[in-house]
Amino acid sequence: MINKVKLYNGVKIDVINCPLCKLCHSRNNAVPGRGNLDAKILFVGEAPGKNEDKLGLPFIGFAGKLLGEALKKSGIERDNVYITNVVKCRPPNNRIPDKDEIDTCLQYLNKEIQIISPAIVCILGATALQSVLNLKNMGLYHGKTITRNNIKYYITYHPAATIYNNDLKELFFKEINLVVNMVQENC
Ligand code: URA
Repeated sequence: MINKVKLYNGVKIDVINCPLCKLCHSRNNAVPGRGNLDAKILFVGEAPGKNEDKLGLPFIGFAGKLLGEALKKSGIERDNVYITNVVKCRPPNNRIPDKDEIDTCLQYLNKEIQIISPAIVCILGATALQSVLNLKNMGLYHGKTITRNNIKYYITYHPAATIYNNDLKELFFKEINLVVNMVQENC
């Protein structure tokens, strides 16, 4: 655990000071991943929004509140999981991150996955699906588990995509419950 803390702090400092893409010029704060370093589930979103950029913390706005609610309903606290994003700095006006920004930033996510070594990585939404697994089509892949390079991934919707769609919100809650049960049964 001491080693994990040391490695995590190293990545955190690198993210906070990252000069590697153009987003470093417009950000207020880079947003490193956060959570339990021994988490069984690591969640990956798209990129920080306005609130996250302001405080340097991931998923603290409306989407984060939904994720927190879904976790709580599934019987797990936010403090017991690890939450991060594909891209660590807010794209201006919350646009989808550019390919070069994603490609540059993925090194940090890869390090986070390596350090935390979760039982499963939960992909939240289309940008993470495309960036991490090079797959398109949430409609096809949500609710599915895929293993790549010995890492297990579970795919579900981004909480922000469910805000104005109650059916999708229900599905999101159901799938979060499913992935939480999956890791609790196997660990
Ligand atoms: N949406 C994301 O994808 N990540 C955040 O941190 C906040 C909102």
